[in-house]
Amino acid sequence: MVCYLANRWKKPKKLSRFAIILMQEEFSEDGFEFEKIGRTFKNESDRKIFEKVFDTRTLKALHTLATKELFDVVEHIISTGKEAHVFVATDKGGNKRAVKIYKTLTTDFKRMNEYIEGDERFKNLKKERRQLVFAWAKKEFKNLSVAANAHLSAPLPLGSMENVLVMEFIGENNEAAPKLRETKPTQKELKNYYGQTIDFIARLYLENLIHADLSEYNILVRNKELVFIDMAQAVLVTHPKAREFFERDVTNMASYFSKNGPETSFEGMYAAVKARKEELEKKRRRI
Ligand SMILES: Nc1ncnc2c1ncn2[C@@H]1O[C@H](COP(=O)(O)OP(=O)(O)O)[C@@H](O)[C@H]1O
Ligand SMILES: [Mg+2]
Repeated sequence: MVCYLANRWKKPKKLSRFAIILMQEEFSEDGFEFEKIGRTFKNESDRKIFEKVFDTRTLKALHTLATKELFDVVEHIISTGKEAHVFVATDKGGNKRAVKIYKTLTTDFKRMNEYIEGDERFKNLKKERRQLVFAWAKKEFKNLSVAANAHLSAPLPLGSMENVLVMEFIGENNEAAPKLRETKPTQKELKNYYGQTIDFIARLYLENLIHADLSEYNILVRNKELVFIDMAQAVLVTHPKAREFFERDVTNMASYFSKNGPETSFEGMYAAVKARKEELEKKRRRI
């Protein structure tokens, strides 16, 4: 199999020069071998950054996921965050996928621990760095699965392995959908988005989850529909800090909407989420 990485890094400051990286991987019977394409990099620091993302184990994980036909070609990067890089990939049918690769070396492990400790789904977790990152990716996969099963507006998770998560690509015409933060919605749209946000928080709560990093940066807008992303840190409602995280989510969103759209306070939004939750609960009981 040939894994082709055509890279158009958005941050040329970090990774200058290389536009296309052709990576040919050869798989021998007794394992995995690949030729590092060191010569592609003009300088040592570029090569080091590349290797940090695509270390041998990450390449293996990518290869395994590609073998399962979750994607075929990893194309280019769409985001370099503190915790992860997100790439666009395509499958054999040409469908777009988002591939999120968590960093295994330079992550804020203390922060991760705060969200994973107390989560009964990960109580036997070993406190080894790599394992923590793997659990983190799995946690995002699980949280997205909960959202998908409840028909919430979040990327559909397609597969995960070690520090790699493959999910539905949220975008239009091959372009990633913009973050809510980057859009300029009309007042009418904002009113509608307010309703969508209330509904999402309430429905997720009914699935026993709290997003825990909700803000206009972790919401994409596709066809006037909000898509809630970045769910690795989402916690169960039984998590010791669940209340704190819940209130922070509501505070962030209330602040976004009161700055831009429908006048709302923390109390106002909190009450609206509660009312929506009770309404949904009633509906459920009737079924
Ligand atoms: N499924 C997806 N489809 C399209 N773009 C995505 C998807 N997931 C993430 N992105 C893009 O990558 C960025 C970072 O992803 P996110 O999950 O928020 O990671 P983090 O904030 O931890 O770096 C998003 O703001 C968005 O632009
Ligand atoms: Mg994010």
